[in-house]
Amino acid sequence: MTLRRRLLFALFSLALTFGVFGAGVVAVQRHYLIGQVDAQLAGYASSPRLVIGLSGTDRAQVALSEVYVGRLFADGRLVTVFSPTDDPDLLPAVGKGDVLSQPEGRGTTAGQARGVRVVTAPLRTDVQAVFAIPTTQVDQAIAQLAATLTAGGFAVLGVVGLVIWWTYRLGLKPFADLTDAARAITRGERRRRVTPGPSGTEANELARAFNTMLDANQASEERMRRFVADASHELRTPLTTLTGYSSLYTRPATAAGAYGLVDAQGIGDAMRRINAEATRMTRIVNDLFLLNELDAGAAGAGAEVDLGAVLRDVAADIKVIQPERPVQVEAGDGLIVTGDQDRLVQAVTAFTSNALRYTPVTAALTIRGFKVGKQRVRVEVSDGGPGIAAGELPHLYDRFYRADPGRGRGSGGSGLGLAIVAAIVGAHRGQYGVSSVPGQGSVFWFELPT
Ligand SMILES: Nc1ncnc2c1ncn2[C@@H]1O[C@H](COP(=O)(O)OP(=O)(O)OP(=O)(O)O)[C@@H](O)[C@H]1O
Ligand SMILES: [Mg+2]
Repeated sequence: MTLRRRLLFALFSLALTFGVFGAGVVAVQRHYLIGQVDAQLAGYASSPRLVIGLSGTDRAQVALSEVYVGRLFADGRLVTVFSPTDDPDLLPAVGKGDVLSQPEGRGTTAGQARGVRVVTAPLRTDVQAVFAIPTTQVDQAIAQLAATLTAGGFAVLGVVGLVIWWTYRLGLKPFADLTDAARAITRGERRRRVTPGPSGTEANELARAFNTMLDANQASEERMRRFVADASHELRTPLTTLTGYSSLYTRPATAAGAYGLVDAQGIGDAMRRINAEATRMTRIVNDLFLLNELDAGAAGAGAEVDLGAVLRDVAADIKVIQPERPVQVEAGDGLIVTGDQDRLVQAVTAFTSNALRYTPVTAALTIRGFKVGKQRVRVEVSDGGPGIAAGELPHLYDRFYRADPGRGRGSGGSGLGLAIVAAIVGAHRGQYGVSSVPGQGSVFWFELPT
């Protein structure tokens, strides 16, 4: 059931409750008033002779001016003894065979009143005394009460109805707007947003949250599009090289000769280039797979990793790869974090292999691991290289970003190394960063919770 229907239903139930309540009040009140009249009649019926025998002045004294008194004969004749002062012609509808020992409601056969309460009491064997009081006043009082209750009920319902309408307009119409916007976006109006209603309402907050979500979605979509564009661009270069070399092989010998593809050495060179580009492509594709996995939240096994040992191993590897490079390790014991050892090794290696690649072999490399407070372990890789321009620093961890386009692809990098570090550290709920002073070197770091 929609909220609108529920509100209408609530309004209807309220009206029904009012109706039942009002009818109940009217019935109770009527019962009470009639009871009073009946009690009066019962009093007369208990001493009928006395009442019938009263003279005119006595009657006025005992407030009998509203009462009809008559004699009912066995043959049905009704003879008035006296009647109410304001309704002198009144005749209650009683006749032959009527014996009303308890007061009863009856109509009238003459007079102004439409109804009476009437009781009879035996006078002699064939004559009964008849006492009747018109119910005109009771009916009027009850009609007045009913009118008041009805008017009050409608007033309350009106106010409640207005409040409901107001609530509906402020609280529910925005939902309809939201639905419209969602449908429009599904149809392809990507930039459609909801206009938030009056501030301070839940609907306003919902609309804002909805818009924020759409913005975030769109941003992530755009990021994805850029990423795909960068990836295809990155893969196109090695593919072009591959196609170029392989097509040379099928050309006529003279044309191929122009490119040196005639002897074993030329062909060998071409094959080496093809192999290098294929390897490069494989690496890019593997990196992309890894990034995708990390994005999807595959944080790896959560085992205890001794970062100190990791740093010492990486330093030992460097001594094999670049024996001339001055390398220093400063890592104490107890640098234990929970995470995926292979990935963490990969993160540290991304830092060190960059240092090896982008700084001269004479530049000193320092690998440091230490505790920051009780909760965190920090890893720093500093080099004494040329450093990086301040404008480049904020983008270094972006995917496919290379600081200096001139040396980028030539040096074999595809700009994914640091992006992978960012993803790995992110998956371990850590932080990462870089600082650099041109001419003095750079410091790449990450911090993990212990
Ligand atoms: N120690 C460093 N000194 C100077 N520049 C650096 C250093 N480390 C990284 N850079 C710059 O940051 C860029 C991004 O590095 P990143 O590791 O993300 O990509 P890459 O090394 O080019 O490619 P990949 O690591 O995927 O092979 C590099 O292209 C390089 O210009
Ligand atoms: Mg790199």
